[in-house]
Amino acid sequence: MDLWFPTPIYSATLANRRWNAGLTREIYRLREQGHVPHGSMSERAYTSYYTQNMLHTTRGLRPCFRAVLRHAYAFAGALHADTKHFAIAISSSWANIYPRGEYVLPHAHPNCQLSGVFYVAAEAGCGDILFYSPLECHKSSDMPQYTKQGPVSYECVPYAARTGRRILFPNWLKHTTLPNTSSKDRIIVSFNFQFIPITPRGRSPEEDQAWPRKRSRSASRRR
Ligand SMILES: [Fe+2]
Repeated sequence: MDLWFPTPIYSATLANRRWNAGLTREIYRLREQGHVPHGSMSERAYTSYYTQNMLHTTRGLRPCFRAVLRHAYAFAGALHADTKHFAIAISSSWANIYPRGEYVLPHAHPNCQLSGVFYVAAEAGCGDILFYSPLECHKSSDMPQYTKQGPVSYECVPYAARTGRRILFPNWLKHTTLPNTSSKDRIIVSFNFQFIPITPRGRSPEEDQAWPRKRSRSASRRR
């Protein structure tokens, strides 16, 4: 038997207390400045989506996001992406805080190719992420009633939220989170990636825009 139409999801855990502490400080500082609510999020959940969605350009946080980018390249490599002719850039990144009881509704991430989440602080029970099968036709079939549940028949797959975990997925993959039932905030950073053509001169203007500091650094190397 052949299995076609697989759905790739990448996960890795890298606990770096210094990065997590720096991110936590910055994210709570952003929340103090207020926010614009997002329609997919429950009422008391905080997002910087409309006020700061280029978090990766914040001084002091770049090492953490460069590590995220390395994971994106690993994921893209497993997907046989053409990283010889296309660089991967973080095109947006924002922070969310989910206090007890808060969650996000099912959604996908438009205008990018890959997406991901990084758990800055995540206690047990703080709200796992669920990915939905993209095989919509499953929903009109009663086959799952007659089969043992497994990768071929799952309609959704949960991934545990835990501090330091990064989960990357195709931007079109619909996902949601369970409500936070723990006593601590779940703090996450979400990000989107875009494939940027590599020009004969090196990085394209779009990639330079995503990583303004990298431009000056590589420019000095070229000299
Ligand atoms: Fe999301």
